[in-house]
Amino acid sequence: MKDTFYVTTPIYYPNDVPHIGHAYTSVAADIIARYHRLRGERVFHLTGTDEHGLKLQRAAEAAGVDPRTWVDRMEPRWREVWSRLDIAYDDYIRTTEPRHEAAVAQLLQAVYENGRDDIYPGIYEGLYCVSCELYYGESDLEGGNCPIHGRPVELLREENYFFRLSAYRDRLLEHYEHHPEAVQPEVRRNEVLSVIRGGLQDFSISRTSFHWGIPLPWDPRHVCYVWFDALTNYITAAGYGSDPERFGRMWPADVHLMAKDILRQHAVYWPAMLMAAGVEPARQVWAHGYLLVGGEKMSKTKLTGIHPFELIDHFGVDSYRYYFMREIQFGQDGNFSWESMVERHNADLANGLGNLLSRVLAMLAASFEGRVPPPDGTGAEGDLPAVAADVLGRYEGHFGRMELSSAVGAAWDLVGRVNQYLVEREPWKVARDPARQEEAGAVLYAAAEALRILAVLISPVMPGAAARVWEQLGIAAPLGAQRLPEAAAWGGLAPGTVTRRGEALFPRIDA
Ligand code: MSP
Repeated sequence: MKDTFYVTTPIYYPNDVPHIGHAYTSVAADIIARYHRLRGERVFHLTGTDEHGLKLQRAAEAAGVDPRTWVDRMEPRWREVWSRLDIAYDDYIRTTEPRHEAAVAQLLQAVYENGRDDIYPGIYEGLYCVSCELYYGESDLEGGNCPIHGRPVELLREENYFFRLSAYRDRLLEHYEHHPEAVQPEVRRNEVLSVIRGGLQDFSISRTSFHWGIPLPWDPRHVCYVWFDALTNYITAAGYGSDPERFGRMWPADVHLMAKDILRQHAVYWPAMLMAAGVEPARQVWAHGYLLVGGEKMSKTKLTGIHPFELIDHFGVDSYRYYFMREIQFGQDGNFSWESMVERHNADLANGLGNLLSRVLAMLAASFEGRVPPPDGTGAEGDLPAVAADVLGRYEGHFGRMELSSAVGAAWDLVGRVNQYLVEREPWKVARDPARQEEAGAVLYAAAEALRILAVLISPVMPGAAARVWEQLGIAAPLGAQRLPEAAAWGGLAPGTVTRRGEALFPRIDA
């Protein structure tokens, strides 16, 4: 029985190193996975590299090495980025691994033998974009070039096996009618429906013009088409064909996350391939927008790629993760700019959360020897408990609808309210009056308690910063053991807790 929340990223092409566009998807997937862990769910977060195909073979040729040497050299360059970005994946798949080659062979064989001739031989001639690893029709092109990469396509002609996608039109439409949530957001769903309604063409699933791929089990002169190979990774890692018990716990995947560039492969090819093999399609394909630089999709092909380290070195990993999730409405295209990143860092992190933590801890140190005082039972906390409860409700609602930017924004409403509350209650003044110690203590209790709740809420987004807040608050129970919603209920901070003022959470950055 399925018992695991299963989220995936695309498996990336290691023909080159990652840029912040790839990292955008991986950070989002990690935040989703961490959020579900925080809710106490069993989670499986899969990522990896897509290592076969013509694009890879050509990158290797250009470097003067064989494809295997090339992918072995490049793959660690991806993992090093995920590691510095605090991406806590549960499995990392490489399509050159034997477990994957076995799963692809099984899936191919299952479709080949399904009794409906869904795989048949033929000759293909068409216009091919190597960057996309995709054939295009004349009408798809823009000025004769690939609509995604703006590069010339090539005329390829070869003997292929085809997959009878055209036969799946009605079943796909029916599937999406019964499962409106299966492609999101809504604009992407409409796009997919119109592609399917417009009629589907069979696509070739093998290549004979080069050899860097997985051989077809029934005709090893052919290697499997890289997209058929790559999409299969999602079931390989879940135990397809090797571990039925595990496969039952994992599949169908809950969310395949990606940008809209590869929506068609995920929402049209992939479910049809699975249907042809008698496997249930994934529950959801969620396609976010593009990260733009100067108004254009950032890409290595167009030489606008920025390596994540360039930003992490300057802003730190937590600020990095926060910026991209907060700044860009999840689902829409969004511009990256250095200026907006500096501004967000200083306003929301250094002056917002960071300053709040340091002020509260400084006042606790000055007036209460760093110990959390008790709440006074006279309502000194004001509306903070109600605001925290409201924020939690919205935060969970937004996460449920994949509104990641709004979920993060909800937590910042609490930051804003606590800062304002301190201005209103002036605990630094109240504490100077010996007769009002209890009141000053209760106000600081409320502020510290709000910080505890904030640490829990930001932990999926900024796991490092959340851990530092937790540590400075001096809470003994591990942050990793906190579960929503209980951990965000008001009153969890124990009076008497010894706080430990530490370094500034987010030092300001000069513009
Ligand atoms: N290998 C295929 C995916 C196979 S999945 C079965 C592939 N790889 S890729 O390296 O080109 O990665 C594409 C993905 O990287 C996008 O779908 C998106 O998740 C991410 N992005 C790459 N550039 C991006 C932007 N400029 N903006 C947002 N996401 C970006 O396609």
